[in-house]
Amino acid sequence: MAELRATDQPAPDLEVLKKAAGVRAAALVESGMRVGLGTGSTAKYAIEEIGRRLGAGELSGVVGVATSEASDALARAVGIPVEPLDPRPLDLAIDGADEITPGLDLIKGLGGALLREKLTEVQARRLVIIADHTKLVTRLGEKAPLPVEIARFGFLSTIERLRALGLGGRLRQPGAQPYLTDNGNYIFDAQLPEQFDPAELGDRIKGTLGVVETGLFLGMAERAFVAAPDGVRKLT
Ligand code: 5RP
Repeated sequence: MAELRATDQPAPDLEVLKKAAGVRAAALVESGMRVGLGTGSTAKYAIEEIGRRLGAGELSGVVGVATSEASDALARAVGIPVEPLDPRPLDLAIDGADEITPGLDLIKGLGGALLREKLTEVQARRLVIIADHTKLVTRLGEKAPLPVEIARFGFLSTIERLRALGLGGRLRQPGAQPYLTDNGNYIFDAQLPEQFDPAELGDRIKGTLGVVETGLFLGMAERAFVAAPDGVRKLT
């Protein structure tokens, strides 16, 4: 077994980093705002902090729009009033990501909420991404697959069509049954090629019969707070 030397740093606790990023983004929320509430283990900390600020009287009149059933339940539990998405813009949306490039293009959806996230965040005046430093990549697909939400009906045929585009990958199936999104769809986790044009490939995937939405979020994020052991960095 390896020995821990006095000079070794303890492994950074990713939860501490996620919380630091979440709290930083929650500080952008102002009274009266309509805020998109993201999904996942990092967005959770932002939702909790917004709830804490409301409870402490630092904020009032904030309303959330949740991007998943889980975030809806968490928001209500911490005291954030939640309303459905309607055609009005959101002042701000705060969400995590699975990959972040230096240009703030994103892969999202490992948490399975990509469709509601995109529907919500496209209406936000500002989309702020929160993450720990392990999510930084130089190109999309470097570490994570690209989640693609597909209709259940005819899903095997849809997957064939995706493979014909040159995509590897597999249907998300954590247990005996395929993973089911909040919208009743399946997810195909696509392995991206080493070199590709994200916008062009995104259009081809989106144009494939049976595909509902992809986890490519291109040009949507205004900034990202990325937490590392030496502090939280703002990327714009
Ligand atoms: C859910 C998402 C999440 O934001 C993404 O998966 C990051 O999650 P986490 O903060 O748990 O790593 O896109 O659909």
